[in-house]
Amino acid sequence: MIITLDGPAGSGKSTVARLLAERMNYRFLDTGAMYRAVALAVLKGAGDENDLEAVTKLVAACTIEFDSDRLLLNQDDVTAEIRSPEVTAVSSIIASNPGVRNRLVELQRAIGRQGSMVTEGRDQGTVVFPEAAHKFFVTANLEARARRRQRELAHKGVNQSITTVMDQLRQRDERDEQRAHAPMKPAENALVIDTSDLTIAQVVEMIAKKVSG
Ligand code: DC
Repeated sequence: MIITLDGPAGSGKSTVARLLAERMNYRFLDTGAMYRAVALAVLKGAGDENDLEAVTKLVAACTIEFDSDRLLLNQDDVTAEIRSPEVTAVSSIIASNPGVRNRLVELQRAIGRQGSMVTEGRDQGTVVFPEAAHKFFVTANLEARARRRQRELAHKGVNQSITTVMDQLRQRDERDEQRAHAPMKPAENALVIDTSDLTIAQVVEMIAKKVSG
């Protein structure tokens, strides 16, 4: 069984998806990590993230694999590196490249064929797994998302003002929602959950209940 969780950055969907997968004993797929790996490959190769053809060639030539919780790019462990602010910014640019999306969608479907999983991203319910058994769109208002992101960054020793974090999220939302290819939006049959005033545990509970019917 495939369960999809889509939604914007800071909505809590990653944490919820991970906990839900653990609880159900399903695999967990973080598709954002795959876009981040491509962004890192572009940055490492000093390529131009806006060059559609060059980035498409690059993504065809690299390997992106999960080894339990670690992400391997061309066999190197890049789990920590893909969380840097530079990678975050470039990932939302290369995510509008159809060549990149086609390749990553193929990889995601191949992983999905290996058995039950909870997968999270922006297009899992709309494009990658339209036949998924359960689809959720997890969102929250901009301020709630920015506060969560600010806390996460502070844990990593990065202190940013709330207005800076809000601006970055807004910019990323716009790019993700407005791209021509697989824009971020709820699937028609997705249940939309606003987590602004909910705890992670409450959201996990809500989804688990819905899934177990
Ligand atoms: O969820 P995240 O912040 O790790 O995602 C990084 C970027 O990748 C984000 O700006 C949008 C893009 N992305 C996407 O376009 N489609 C997905 N399924 C997952 C992520």
